[in-house]
Amino acid sequence: MGTLVIDGGNKLHGAVSVQGAKNGALPVLAASVLGGRSVIHNCPRLADTGSSVEILRMLGCEAERDGETVTVDASRVPRCDIPPELMRRMRSSVIFLGAVLARCGRAVVSAPGGCELGPRPIDLHLKAMRLLGADISESRGLMICECAGRLKGAEIVLPYPSVGATENAVIAASTAKGRTVLVGAAREPEITELAEFINAKGGRISGAGGEVVVIDGVEALGDCEHTCIPDRIAAATFIAAAAATGSELTLRGAEPEHMTAVISAFSEAGCRFRESGGGLTVTAPERLKAVRFVRTAPYPGFPTDAQPLLAAALAFADGVSVINETVFGGRFRYLRELAKLGADVKYDGSLAVIRGKPFLTGAEAACTDLRGGAALVAAALGAKGVSVISGTEHIDRGYESVEAAFAAAGAKIYGNVKNETAHAGDRFREASGV
Ligand code: UD1
Repeated sequence: MGTLVIDGGNKLHGAVSVQGAKNGALPVLAASVLGGRSVIHNCPRLADTGSSVEILRMLGCEAERDGETVTVDASRVPRCDIPPELMRRMRSSVIFLGAVLARCGRAVVSAPGGCELGPRPIDLHLKAMRLLGADISESRGLMICECAGRLKGAEIVLPYPSVGATENAVIAASTAKGRTVLVGAAREPEITELAEFINAKGGRISGAGGEVVVIDGVEALGDCEHTCIPDRIAAATFIAAAAATGSELTLRGAEPEHMTAVISAFSEAGCRFRESGGGLTVTAPERLKAVRFVRTAPYPGFPTDAQPLLAAALAFADGVSVINETVFGGRFRYLRELAKLGADVKYDGSLAVIRGKPFLTGAEAACTDLRGGAALVAAALGAKGVSVISGTEHIDRGYESVEAAFAAAGAKIYGNVKNETAHAGDRFREASGV
């Protein structure tokens, strides 16, 4: 189990670089199965992108990473099954379903893994595949999806703008026979990115980023070069850390246009934002103000992924904040860990009440999931004294290296200590004289 040791309560300063977006890179990597050679730049080096590369190789594609660039050659895709062990590693493995089915006419997969945020059904993904002409059966925990020849364009109405179901439908429809009209699509920037990637390969997708996406299927897709968009949740993580520590921090490469709701919530808490050449600078007040009420919602609403990050910062605010989580039912588990640092937090169902305190105190706490773990890091950076955060493999799924990024911004943070938690704390205290 990985551990991070943080001596918090110090201001951050300077600039940090925002990595390529995990949630953009993963569907792009899956869509590369559709055909041709894809050169994908700014592809973040994460456990999850590593798992995608493993899946691609398993399927028989050639996939190589050189620094931040991943090159995939999908001229041949001889296999159509993804073993449960690889499926379980992340939620986004399910996005390979549409890609493999469209490319091979058959896909054999099991239920995907990913963070435990409450029930995460895939009924909408399967509904979309069925409407496109797939026959889906289940046998011994495996889903067998088949179609005779190419998939067929269809009208698909999503009752909820699921990000993953939209991605699966867009990918599968891009080489289907005829036109697909996807109504009620998710509007996240990562959906627009995916459509741009497929269009660069010769696809004909319009309307991505809106509620209605029209996909005119093409027979085959070719080569392309693509650059992943900046990670708006990684950027929100840096903002939360700046807010929790009362710091000024420049986020190199951040895209403020993708972060309107996050910027607005942190502005209400008293942070100021300034756009400068290729970056965004956040200046946090000495003490944040509480925000009255923030509700998570599909894009362009406040992102559920940034909810734990905002809560961590608000634990230091003056006053009482209320957060309403509407996307994932089980997304407040991390609050119990935040309370170990002294945060005054209560939750019931989809509501969390955060009574801000002038300071939190370093403690031992465990990551419950990816963003919940990142929230603990932000809180520990603001808390006085030493925190030992265990279970950091959750964080590694989505961040290139939080410890390197925050250390560059002046934080006292020791990363990837694999020993027992207590020993890690002792070693840190010895080394730092705390
Ligand atoms: C994606 C993101 C994840 C983010 C989430 C919400 C990626 C790789 N993951 O996850 O980081 O937290 O969007 O922005 O981009 N639902 C159904 N049936 C389905 C699919 C979803 O009921 O078939 C429900 C879910 O239970 C949830 C809601 O729809 O309540 C949103 O899920 P969805 O947008 O699909 O999220 P993911 O694609 O899993």
